[in-house]
Amino acid sequence: MSGNEIRERYLRFFKERGHAIVPSSALVPENDPTTLFTGSGMQPMLPYLLGEIHPKGTRIVDSQKCFRAEDIEEVGDNRHTTFFEMLGNWSFGDYFKKEQIEWMFEFLTTEVGIDPKRLYISAFGGDETFNIPRDEEAPKIWQALFAKHGIGAKVADIGSEQAGYERGMKDGERIFYYEAKKNWWSRAGVPKNMPVGEPGGPDSEMFFDFGTPHDPKWGEHCHPNCDCGRFMEIGNNVFMQYIKRGESQFEELEYKNIDFGGGLERVAAAAIDSPDVFKTDLFVNTIAQIERMANKPYETNERPFRVIADHIRGAVFMIGDAVLPGSADQEYFVRRLLRRAVRYADTLNIPAGTFADLAESVIVTYTEHYPALAEKRSFIKETIAREEEQFRKTLEAGLKQFNKVSLQIHLTSKVEDGKKVIDKDTPPTTKQVITADKAFDLYTTYGFPIELTQEIAAEKGFEVDMAGFDTLMKEHRDKSRAGAEQKFKGGLADSSEKVIELHTATHLMLAGLQKELGHHIHQAGSNITGERLRYDFTHPEKIERDVLDRIEVFVNKAITEGGEVSIAMMSKVEAQNDPTIEASFWDRYPDEVKVYTMTAKDGTVLSRELCGGPHVARLEDIKGTFKIVKEESSSAGVRRIKAVLE
Ligand code: ALA
Repeated sequence: MSGNEIRERYLRFFKERGHAIVPSSALVPENDPTTLFTGSGMQPMLPYLLGEIHPKGTRIVDSQKCFRAEDIEEVGDNRHTTFFEMLGNWSFGDYFKKEQIEWMFEFLTTEVGIDPKRLYISAFGGDETFNIPRDEEAPKIWQALFAKHGIGAKVADIGSEQAGYERGMKDGERIFYYEAKKNWWSRAGVPKNMPVGEPGGPDSEMFFDFGTPHDPKWGEHCHPNCDCGRFMEIGNNVFMQYIKRGESQFEELEYKNIDFGGGLERVAAAAIDSPDVFKTDLFVNTIAQIERMANKPYETNERPFRVIADHIRGAVFMIGDAVLPGSADQEYFVRRLLRRAVRYADTLNIPAGTFADLAESVIVTYTEHYPALAEKRSFIKETIAREEEQFRKTLEAGLKQFNKVSLQIHLTSKVEDGKKVIDKDTPPTTKQVITADKAFDLYTTYGFPIELTQEIAAEKGFEVDMAGFDTLMKEHRDKSRAGAEQKFKGGLADSSEKVIELHTATHLMLAGLQKELGHHIHQAGSNITGERLRYDFTHPEKIERDVLDRIEVFVNKAITEGGEVSIAMMSKVEAQNDPTIEASFWDRYPDEVKVYTMTAKDGTVLSRELCGGPHVARLEDIKGTFKIVKEESSSAGVRRIKAVLE
């Protein structure tokens, strides 16, 4: 069965079980400072996992576009990709563990056609530090399902991954308890790392057994979480039932949620019983296109083929979501994808100017489920072709730098009368060295990864001052990390009550700004912590204090008199055509959008805005008096306000 078919079947299977199908959110998340990219299906669902009402009900299913930038260097093996689709289904306080596990089992074995004997399961073994009990229920539900097929499924207590390598699997064992590091899911990972206000819970993962021999390079024995390649995780059932309330305190959520996520590529690989995701229909067109262009078979060139196929696909989807190649933030990753792809294409002697055709092979594969890609076809292809061309020029300029190599002269010293002196009898030796400065410049200015510099240097018989380069890189990383921490704190700092209150107040404030100053005012950036909101918006000049005072009065009146906050889902086109709806960054929203409306008690609409949430349920839930503490310039044509709830 093909990946495209699995996606359709999955959506239909859960639709038949009462779920509303929703379109994928964009790759760049809204209001989520924890990541640059949407890296899992649950990220856009956060408000509902915390109790907000989803306009489509308590059962939702989708296939979410995801991007994991941190995996970029891993691409090249048979399973890692940067972009992927995550099949996801959610219960917001509706069904729970039993239905989820039974449905997943049914979906995988009957719809996808996986032999249940090839399935292995992991479950949460408990966490003593936080007093969270182990999951006694999930293994029992799985056992009953396997038993129906006459398959034994003994439960084993493993604990850590390391313990798994030491202990291995014994006869008849199919279900394995691991510690929180493996079987607990939250956006921030294990319970200890979760900020207060973050939801999370135990999970139960499903692994497909390819039956390949164990590779002891990873550890003595094999077990489901072993990396040798015998097992591949194909889905994760998260029982999202806790919220962190204090440093060491977890509480059960009032409503227990299901958050399921399964990598489409991986399920598709299991369906064709191939551990290589690049052999699925999701990559077949692109791999075939590379074979034609390189005039070489995939089988003998797997790594470069995989890198090119993955990176082109990632770039196509990014550009489709209006993230264009650039030098900072998310845009830098698009550039990096395309640059790495060029380098690998060169190793295969793929002719220049062919990237648009590669992009076409991706668009063709995905047109049916993502018609927007076809609509933006020429824009995507032109953007990629331009970036390819530009980088090839840079590459050429970078290569010239190798001609300006430095000569280092080494003199030999000796000790005379207890003093170190130059040994004039030994002739000096010379070495041709790429200095640390040069290697660093090649990296920052020409986009040459250090391995590329080393490769070219080796071909020419030069040495690279690696120690010096490492020092410069470390300084550079420290600097950019500090920068990133400041910069990526966009959106909401967390989902605590105060942050949510300030978020709703921000909508009211924007409405107040527009009322006082005009509709040229739109959001240019937003950052909200538990202490204050910071809001950037388009406006050319300083705002006088008396205007700010009137905006405060507007917001405070809305809060004290109270009113309703309601949510509606509608098509993006419909929202775009409705002049009463406020939004910026239209391109970054999915085809179906969420609109928050704040209405005063007398029925006056105070604010209508496109947003991912979360917000308070009623305006009077905002506690405190709204106060604008600062108004200043942010950049050309953009002002910044800081405000608090006192
Ligand atoms: N949110 C869960 C994951 O990403 C399903 O694995």
